Amino acid sequence: MPRPAPAWLLPPLLALLCTTEARPGPNFVIIMADDLGVGDPGCYGNRTLRTPNIDRLAREGAKLTQHLAAAPLCTPSRAAFLTGRYAVRSGMASRGHMGVFLFSASSGGLPAREVTFPRLLQGRGYATALVAAARQPTSATTHCVTASHASWARPPPTCGTAGRGRDRAGPRPAAGVGPDSGHTGGGSGLAVGVADAGVGAAGAVRVPLWAWSLAAVGVAGVVGVAIHAFRVHFRPANCFLMADLSIAQQPTDYHELTRRLTDEGRDFLRRHAATPFLLFLSFLHVHTAHFAGPEFAGRSRHGAYGDSVEEMDWGVGQILDALDELGLANDTLVYFTSDHGAHVEEVGEGGERHGGSNGIYRGGKANNWEGGIRVPGLARWPGVIAPGLEIDEPTSNMDVFPTLVRLAGAELPGDRVIDGRDLMPLLRGDTRRSEHEFLFHYCGTYLNAVRWRNGSSVWKAFYFTPNFDPPGANGCFSTHVCFCFGHYVTHHNPPLLFDIASDPGERRPLTPEAEPRYREVLHTMDEAAHAHAATLEPVPDQLSLANVAWKPWLQLCCASRPHVFACHCADDNGEGRRDT
Ligand SMILES: *[C@@H]1O[C@H](CO)[C@@H](O)[C@H](O)[C@H]1NC(C)=O
Ligand SMILES: *[C@@H]1O[C@H](CO)[C@@H](O)[C@H](O)[C@H]1NC(C)=O
Ligand SMILES: *[C@@H]1O[C@H](CO)[C@@H](O)[C@H](O)[C@H]1NC(C)=O
Repeated sequence: MPRPAPAWLLPPLLALLCTTEARPGPNFVIIMADDLGVGDPGCYGNRTLRTPNIDRLAREGAKLTQHLAAAPLCTPSRAAFLTGRYAVRSGMASRGHMGVFLFSASSGGLPAREVTFPRLLQGRGYATALVAAARQPTSATTHCVTASHASWARPPPTCGTAGRGRDRAGPRPAAGVGPDSGHTGGGSGLAVGVADAGVGAAGAVRVPLWAWSLAAVGVAGVVGVAIHAFRVHFRPANCFLMADLSIAQQPTDYHELTRRLTDEGRDFLRRHAATPFLLFLSFLHVHTAHFAGPEFAGRSRHGAYGDSVEEMDWGVGQILDALDELGLANDTLVYFTSDHGAHVEEVGEGGERHGGSNGIYRGGKANNWEGGIRVPGLARWPGVIAPGLEIDEPTSNMDVFPTLVRLAGAELPGDRVIDGRDLMPLLRGDTRRSEHEFLFHYCGTYLNAVRWRNGSSVWKAFYFTPNFDPPGANGCFSTHVCFCFGHYVTHHNPPLLFDIASDPGERRPLTPEAEPRYREVLHTMDEAAHAHAATLEPVPDQLSLANVAWKPWLQLCCASRPHVFACHCADDNGEGRRDT
């Protein structure tokens, strides 16, 4: 007859069970660059930019060579990344000119009903940290740094820097109105409203010419004042550094900023070495305007852009070194990517390139040519992922969601479509096939192209393509970013079809004569697009003009008497901080 286990054995047994329970999966370090092109890191073929630390990830882990951002613009790409779902499902994709949140004080953002992977990991006992270019934790900022720990609830970290762009580079020539393009959209919308009212009145009463002239001068004055106010106040109003829910600096001091973000990351790793953790380090680099500390400024062979890349690479190295020092490298999955392709239209004052390289790929940020969506994708986990592995299958940044959720032992939400697929079978080498048969490439809310991985082909069919300008250029230089609708695009019926496997540069559209499967392939892709469309549900538009407009009552300000003209706090030692 078996005797019951002696009582003294129970506590250790329980402790063992608890330990198993307390470490549900590996640690995760997620590093995201902003606007870094797939042609920039050395491990993706660049010979002149120095990225030894990013390259180290490729050497010690897997390199995804067909890794795709879910959208070519920061807000929708990052929303999709965090939720594992195309941004159209959360309303984080735009119908209009304004594809991103421009002001910190705007409404809209990732809806509370969306589930992010950090949230699910928290439920499994993970310590989580966001060290990032992010919106303010309460409601809103696209443009500034948030060093906020574990405040994942509402804020989608989105892209950086209209403010940085403007302040660091000074006012740009009219042709280079990057982030302002959205502003111009909003501004001209208002101006049109005023003009309409005038026309309405003119129909009823005869208005003398002098009155018209006076009105025109008045309108021009108001617009001029608004533009001036925007230039002067954008940075203090929108660029601040937050530590949790407090403003640490307003406006942000970029001197030593990368070191500061990196130190935050290292400190977090040290504090949580004993628990499972998720660190999401989202660099402001290499979005314009470029900045670099004294060790990097002027050192690269690619000007201010190259300095930014090399400084960011240093930051990656700091994090990898910290993992080594803590003995955590083998227990940690490190993932590195960029939110989308390089912004090829970025040109500095003197005409030098301020955007990165998309290698052999066409287009870039804000369009769905390969250059806009094919991004670096590196995954290192020693002992689990074979060093030097290369995977050329279509994978998506949405895949991080199910991959991490599964590894952490959490449940995938069963009440919604998750578009990402678990990467571990590919990364472990259990399969050579991606689980993505079809991928859908959105430009805002518009389905721009479909990708079908079939046999040895990767078909890509475009329903429309952006009108590059000037004609023959590799981007939309007069608007600074390409738009997704109206006269900005050319529609294709039948769709423009490429085989990305044999023509990754998208130079040779296929014809029915040259490709016997032409009709069948397009038919299959059309059916897939319809089936996909049937899974979409109508959701509120988070990027509506009403949402993205600046709201004075949402403006965060560190001054004791909040006033947009007085939002300056240079210190970062707690003095001058205002809890929000
Ligand atoms: C390396 O990167 C720089 C900076 O983006 C770029 O100018 C250069 O063309 C790239 N080289 C290659 C081979 O892609
Ligand atoms: C980490 O994993 C690698 C590969 O399995 C192994 O060679 C190495 O010894 C491990 N290091 C430690 C500290 O366990
Ligand atoms: C390619 O597509 C055809 C037609 O739909 C299908 O029969 C075949 O199984 C596919 N091959 C692969 C490897 O997906």
